[in-house]
Amino acid sequence: MHNQVTVIDHPLIQHKLTLMRKAETSTTKFRNLLKEISLLLGYEVTRNLSLKYEEIKTPLAPMNAPVLAPDKKLVLVSIMRAGQGILDGMLELMPSARVGHIGLYRDPKTLIPIEYYFKVPHDVEQRDMIIVDPMLATGNSAVAAVDRLKSTNPLSMKFVCLLAAPEGLEHFCNVHPEVQVYTAAIDEYVDEHGYIIPGLGDAGDRLFGTK
Ligand code: URA
Repeated sequence: MHNQVTVIDHPLIQHKLTLMRKAETSTTKFRNLLKEISLLLGYEVTRNLSLKYEEIKTPLAPMNAPVLAPDKKLVLVSIMRAGQGILDGMLELMPSARVGHIGLYRDPKTLIPIEYYFKVPHDVEQRDMIIVDPMLATGNSAVAAVDRLKSTNPLSMKFVCLLAAPEGLEHFCNVHPEVQVYTAAIDEYVDEHGYIIPGLGDAGDRLFGTK
């Protein structure tokens, strides 16, 4: 599991995450912070994108300069609804990425994820996939989302979250050992309601102000 999980412990991310955790942080602030953190997570998760070189002219001289290789196309997939908060930041960084959505809700009694929406671009097979969801708690939703998305045959898959719980990470890594996970922090545990402790509460409610 250790090689599969990257904790992005950049000081700016850690500071902003602490602000997000605070119960008194408003919806507006929470949303902006998640967007800012997503930009920073985005840098890390795209670190290995390949480059090609092209001849350009600066005002002073010609040079052979790096640009993103055009064959490396991305698809971002948001696990609804809280994934939207990370998606917005990532899209700012990668404006030409295509976007898919998968809608899962957790049955409140069994905590088992149930799919209610699924749409991805038609050319997913030619794209590297980055799946986003702020909270990897039990891991059930993440595992179910990746199960479903694997059936669309993307070139590769990465999973980006804000917070993860150790038991959820273990579950995810056991079922999908080839999918790299990026998170800003690993918290203590998941409670009996499926919440990450200490966590930040319900990410969707805090993002959209629904509670
Ligand atoms: N989903 C959330 O929104 N919060 C948690 O703590 C766990 C799952």
